Amino acid sequence: MEIEKITIIGGYGKDGEKEKVDRFELKMGDIISIVGPTGCGKTTLINDIELFANNNTPSRRVILINDQPIPEDFSFDPKKHPIALISQHTNFLSDLPVGEFLKIHATVRGADDIELIIAETLDFANQLTGEAIIRETAMTELSGGQTRSLLIADAVIIGNSPIILLDEIENAGINRTKALELLKNYKKIFVFVTHDPRIALLSDFRIVIKAGSMQKLISTNQEERLAAGELKKIDDVVLHFRSLIRAGEVISEVILNESIKTLKV
Ligand SMILES: Nc1ncnc2c1ncn2[C@@H]1O[C@H](COP(=O)(O)OP(=O)(O)O)[C@@H](O)[C@H]1O
Ligand SMILES: [Mg+2]
Repeated sequence: MEIEKITIIGGYGKDGEKEKVDRFELKMGDIISIVGPTGCGKTTLINDIELFANNNTPSRRVILINDQPIPEDFSFDPKKHPIALISQHTNFLSDLPVGEFLKIHATVRGADDIELIIAETLDFANQLTGEAIIRETAMTELSGGQTRSLLIADAVIIGNSPIILLDEIENAGINRTKALELLKNYKKIFVFVTHDPRIALLSDFRIVIKAGSMQKLISTNQEERLAAGELKKIDDVVLHFRSLIRAGEVISEVILNESIKTLKV
């Protein structure tokens, strides 16, 4: 099945009231964010998408693919499962070396040139993480940032899933701006659950959730895009300071002012 779009039809919040956002569509190439306080129901919404909910989850939402609901007994060809979910808590149980893991996945997915696709996947992952991943490293020895970066690269390149759901990946220390830049080159649907203003403002639109209920759909306007650019500069200063601290440097106000000057050009 070729996915062109999915539709999310609102159900009911925790209080049993109908959701204010009663439907929205995600088309190939869309990047959206889901925002709201902890416990408000963000993960629940992406789980509904992952399950292709059809009035059979607590929220009673319905997800359509190309305007059609998915029958409950429908099972996707495992080689072509359309959804990849990368969650905050995904950890590898396998202690296979990275290269072996990717090789197995590429083989299952029926890739033509296994070596090429492994190299591409590692290259993509290494643009997201500051600590290079090497093929020989055991999966269980990867850091949080390396794990998330590898999972994203694997879902995008080897899995070739048209819909990729990312649940609060920002805490894992991956290069977020780079990730969004790279992801924009792929015609897929990306759904980010996030507290990160940079990711939210670089999305096409965001869904605001409160008490289990989709309250608002906010499209990112020009003014917000400009604000995102400014925010990036401030964030870069913070990241720069993080690396200085990690490298054992001593910080002073002079250094702070200097880096604000050089980074905020
Ligand atoms: N629409 C809803 N109807 C009923 N329960 C909901 C709904 N949305 C969320 N919940 C429940 O609220 C709790 C917190 O939701 P969760 O998705 O984990 O929040 P978040 O990811 O924003 O921290 C979960 O137990 C979930 O089942
Ligand atoms: Mg959550």
